Amino acid sequence: MRAYFDARGTLTIPRSYRELTTRTVLVQEYVGGVSLVSLEAKQHEGYGIDSIVNQALGSDVWTQLRLLGTELLRATVYADYLMVDPHPGNIRLLPDNRVALIDFGLISPAPTNRGSFASLIHEMRKLYENKFEAGNFAVAMLAFFDVELHDALERVAQEQSEDYTFSLGGFIDHFTASQTKQTEIQHYLSDKQLLQLFSNILNQDNKLGIRITEENALVQRSMTMFMSVIRAISDAHDERVYESIIHDCILAVDEEIQAVGISQTATHREMSEERAYEVASNWLAMVAERDRRMYQFITGRSYA
Ligand SMILES: Nc1ncnc2c1ncn2[C@@H]1O[C@H](COP(=O)(O)OP(=O)(O)O)[C@@H](O)[C@H]1O
Ligand SMILES: [Mg+2]
Repeated sequence: MRAYFDARGTLTIPRSYRELTTRTVLVQEYVGGVSLVSLEAKQHEGYGIDSIVNQALGSDVWTQLRLLGTELLRATVYADYLMVDPHPGNIRLLPDNRVALIDFGLISPAPTNRGSFASLIHEMRKLYENKFEAGNFAVAMLAFFDVELHDALERVAQEQSEDYTFSLGGFIDHFTASQTKQTEIQHYLSDKQLLQLFSNILNQDNKLGIRITEENALVQRSMTMFMSVIRAISDAHDERVYESIIHDCILAVDEEIQAVGISQTATHREMSEERAYEVASNWLAMVAERDRRMYQFITGRSYA
């Protein structure tokens, strides 16, 4: 991680002293600066966060949060390992607008399929640009969380004309538009709570039958944690700051992905045709049980 961020010249990762390090104790260079925990505490006492940071470090806190957000998000698509515990106690603001991460007790290999995380970033961007599409977003979430299922559906689509992910997207669009919970949906959208929209409405009771891989669960938890850190700090200051920071982070990473593409992780493998049909048909059987209308819509068949 240190090599990755040093090469980028962005986040500061403390040097490890390997000769002092054992299986249970990691010894690292001391990082000073101001912890986000102490900033949050000051903020609760009524201090303005930007002036505290400016006085203590001469840094601009909003620039630092943008840098941190962009780099953590970018790492999910370009780094080999991720620090997946970005809570306030593990983030330190430094002078010269630098930001350090400490605490490598929880790290994860990169998501199994970076491509699907990249599409998710693209769909998130649309939310911030008032172009949100529920169907595309739900399919991107499915692809991100359940790489095998997504690959199987794509593979089946290549072999025959049934493009299940496409029709699933269509179903979700249709479903969202006809939902009685419109005010709840609007609330999630205007409050930019995409995960809640997904788990409480689009994928309520896991009707999409998604099996979440361990790495992806960690990455998702870490993104949520990080977004709530920024939210806690900036909402106390001014609600609009949060949205503008997150939008800038997503935009920067999405633009880079569009411009240079991404490379797949070594763990991502091509799936055999046999396996693809097995996964896809198990999934369809599950969908048929959980949501008959969805099954009919996706397959264009009636349920016998
Ligand atoms: N490299 C470091 N420089 C300065 N302080 C550190 C460093 N690493 C850890 N700490 C301090 O020790 C605390 C606990 O260490 P951390 O690695 O975060 O372990 P934990 O898993 O207990 O959170 C941190 O919150 C921080 O105050
Ligand atoms: Mg810690």
